[in-house]
Amino acid sequence: MKRRKALKWTLIGVGGGVGALVLGGGGTIAYLYGNAKLDTVGEVDFDNPLGIPPLAESETDASGTRVFNLSVRAGATRFKEGGATSTWGVNGDFLGPTIRAGRGEEVAFSVHNGLDEATSIHWHGMHLPAVMDGGPHQWIGPGGEWLPQWTIDQPAATLWYHPHPHGQTGRHVYRGLAGMFIIDDEETGALNLPGEYGVDDVPLIVQDRKFDGGNQFDESASFMSTQGVIGDEILVNGTLGPYFDVTTRLVRLRLLNGSNSRLYNFGFSDDRRFSLIGTDGGLLPEAWETDRLQLSPGERAEVVVAFEPGETVDLRSYPARFGYTGPLARLNGAEDRLDILRFRAPGTLADETEIPAAMGAAPDVDGDEVAEERSFELSGFNSINGEQMDPGRIDFGVREGTAEVWEVTNNDGFMHNFHVHDVQFQVLSVDGQEPPPFLRGWKDTVQLVPQERYRLAMRFTGYTDPNLPYMFHCHILVHEDSGMMGQFVVLGEGERIGTVPEGGVGHGHP
Ligand code: C2O
Ligand code: CU
Ligand code: CU
Repeated sequence: MKRRKALKWTLIGVGGGVGALVLGGGGTIAYLYGNAKLDTVGEVDFDNPLGIPPLAESETDASGTRVFNLSVRAGATRFKEGGATSTWGVNGDFLGPTIRAGRGEEVAFSVHNGLDEATSIHWHGMHLPAVMDGGPHQWIGPGGEWLPQWTIDQPAATLWYHPHPHGQTGRHVYRGLAGMFIIDDEETGALNLPGEYGVDDVPLIVQDRKFDGGNQFDESASFMSTQGVIGDEILVNGTLGPYFDVTTRLVRLRLLNGSNSRLYNFGFSDDRRFSLIGTDGGLLPEAWETDRLQLSPGERAEVVVAFEPGETVDLRSYPARFGYTGPLARLNGAEDRLDILRFRAPGTLADETEIPAAMGAAPDVDGDEVAEERSFELSGFNSINGEQMDPGRIDFGVREGTAEVWEVTNNDGFMHNFHVHDVQFQVLSVDGQEPPPFLRGWKDTVQLVPQERYRLAMRFTGYTDPNLPYMFHCHILVHEDSGMMGQFVVLGEGERIGTVPEGGVGHGHP
């Protein structure tokens, strides 16, 4: 292990010469490079029933607020033969329950930290006050309790939650802290889409892990990876080698790339077509049919797949379609082919749902007057516009009630994506072209093809706070943790950028 690490840093240091070294280098390097392409098709025994995260329980208090209790803790999980793996979880040993709430509902959480170090819980994709966002400034010390509360004020969507402690997000997520947050609304509920949780409306939290010889998670960066840890085994909802028995012809899958850095180019073993019905921020106006769907870390998608009675078909990840350049792509998993999940259909299937012709609302920020244009260049695995994240520095303030256009470019040849807290944005164009169909819905995270300019339009509504920032960052967690992140505040009329309170607004002792 030691030796691999030293090798990695020497080579990375060479920068531009890396490719030449990899291809022309000594026997060991050539061997490791040759073996870096992973193909698990046909190698996975799909013999474990897919775990479905339980729905989080809640109580409605006298004022009508839905109250959830979340308890973060260390535990142990048996993923495979041999010993159990030390893991972290929320209300359990690994991952957390699916939180579900309706648009317009007031929700409150009691988040208890049972770990012996500080963590936080961030609600990825949620429009909410910065003080409730659960970013690095809302840390919860060991034994501490955090009580965020807000009104759900956005369309039905598949969001998720995960820790966001400064510099430690990757480690905390890798150990198991993540869960889904599903928002419902009346319009979506009235559609005849598949909608029975765990039956024909199925959450799929897809994550890669590396196990060491003792069955423990290996958290170290992979050989010469520029993206940190890349696992060679795939967990879906914490299940290794999973199968799912469908009972209906149409099944809606809520896909979440919950990995630290691995990209998935989802497709089926028979290349069947399926329908993308929703992106990060909600349903599309109409379904888009495809045979592949690529999701970078943090992105979600809702898709509907049709099954035939009696068949078996596997969900796979195919080599990446876009996002990488150069020979290092292979070392970041870009050429991998992975078996993920087996679907098994019985002799008869219920057939009562459909994909409606009209579903969600199209993003409409493009009609707004633009108050400000900003540009963001990601480079060097650790900086945006040449600066590393500093929790004490607020990079800029946006005006509440206005729309802005952010032009974002990945200046490396390597994979990055871009996530913005508080808002869902509209992708206006990609390098001057109309965005592809899978980027035409509401998004909060977008993969950045190297050197292409992504113009993102977003509206900032409500929740002004001159002192507490929201984050924007690359969602490859090792990049985020090493500083590829910045902070902005939403300002009310006449307000100026304030000062981040020293130490944030933590709860308990750090
Ligand atoms: Cu998914 Cu800043 O987070
Ligand atoms: Cu987020
Ligand atoms: Cu990145």
